[in-house]
Amino acid sequence: MRAMTYRGPYKVRVEEKDRPRIEHPNDAIVRVTLAAICGSDLHLYHGLMPDTRIGHTFGHEFIGVVDEVGSSVESLQVGDRVMVPFNIACGTCFFCARGLISNCHNVNPNATAVGGIYGYSHTTGGYDGGQAEYVRVPFADVGPSVIPEGISDENALMMTDALSTGYFGAQLGGTREGDTVVVFGAGPVGLYAARSSWLMGAGRVIVVDYLDYRLQKAREFAYAETVDFGAVDDIVLHLKRMTDHLGADVVIDAVGAEADGNLAQHITSAKFKLQGGSPVALNWAIDSVRKGGTVSVMGAYGPLFSAVKFGDALNKGLTLRMNQAPVKRQWPRLFEHIRSGALDPSAIITHRIPLEHIAEAYHVFSSKLDDCIKTVIVPESAAWTAA
Ligand SMILES: NC(=O)c1ccc[n+]([C@@H]2O[C@H](COP(=O)([O-])OP(=O)(O)OC[C@H]3O[C@@H](n4cnc5c(N)ncnc54)[C@H](O)[C@@H]3O)[C@@H](O)[C@H]2O)c1
Ligand SMILES: [Zn+2]
Ligand SMILES: [Zn+2]
Repeated sequence: MRAMTYRGPYKVRVEEKDRPRIEHPNDAIVRVTLAAICGSDLHLYHGLMPDTRIGHTFGHEFIGVVDEVGSSVESLQVGDRVMVPFNIACGTCFFCARGLISNCHNVNPNATAVGGIYGYSHTTGGYDGGQAEYVRVPFADVGPSVIPEGISDENALMMTDALSTGYFGAQLGGTREGDTVVVFGAGPVGLYAARSSWLMGAGRVIVVDYLDYRLQKAREFAYAETVDFGAVDDIVLHLKRMTDHLGADVVIDAVGAEADGNLAQHITSAKFKLQGGSPVALNWAIDSVRKGGTVSVMGAYGPLFSAVKFGDALNKGLTLRMNQAPVKRQWPRLFEHIRSGALDPSAIITHRIPLEHIAEAYHVFSSKLDDCIKTVIVPESAAWTAA
């Protein structure tokens, strides 16, 4: 089969790989019909995630058709159209039993700090991902769902991560009626978090980024006020002025460990490797939320140390909430919002690219060229089926 493979930082290509096989009775093999590239894939692409091995296939956002099932699979049949959450979970361990399906203990037994994720390095279990024609889906009775009536393929695809993560970020913010919510990052996760904050009662939503075309999307898609942090002297002071000098009630970090905007952090992280990234946006979040407020962190941070302003968070009495999104938990509400017309997640998709051209798609998304926000990948075999 054809599959995207990692060749080293900033190098990916499409190669011929063995089609995955059933390895366990509860596995399914899914023929991928659509996949997407996530901002999280950029951390891998930039070589920032430990134990990203040559030959690994990325891709934790995908939908497809069940091609084969193991002998114990009960909830799926060959031919079912399925959406697969990015978390791999066993469904029965201590954590899964408590709904912490992104923190499953069984799917990544070599690690205590992170669960299993498709196509996200051996740090998260070494599972090959869905930017390929076929993918092995473990615990097939737990993760995937048949795509329900009324949910388009592209909307189902957005629910496998970005939309569910943005919605979860807004949930963790604990937004109350009338609250002011600031979202750092106008990528897919930030756009969905901003839009979801309204669904949770926000009175005001402000999105911060420095890419004009993304801020424009934040105004159109998420009905947010926007601030270009590159155009103001001091983004924290600017946000304070916008929020009665008290600060926002809720701030969501939808940027993660590769934030732009602070030279010193860049030098100590990217150049001298003194920390595992530049948590500029997270520090801005801690500074611009009001005392007693909540910071919800959706942006990804690797296992390495990052210089975060913990003392200020303590002295301000902040609530810090974060996790890898437990994707499937968000689906019932999101189905309702999409069916009622309150939400059309596919509106943020800017690029639809054949799998064979995925190297270029990574370059365009990574360098933020061609007004790229969200790229959907179409395997050749899927395009052929659709035609
Ligand atoms: N927790 C989870 O489960 C989960 C799931 C999906 C993605 N993520 C993470 O969420 C983050 C966002 O994902 P995405 O797909 O939207 O990525 P993306 O790269 O498309 O978007 C990130 C945006 O942040 C902006 N940005 C950079 N520095 C900034 C700063 N200092 N202040 C404000 N904005 C800044 C960039 O210009 C960009 O528009 C990534 O770190 C990703 O790894 C986490
Ligand atoms: Zn992701
Ligand atoms: Zn589990």
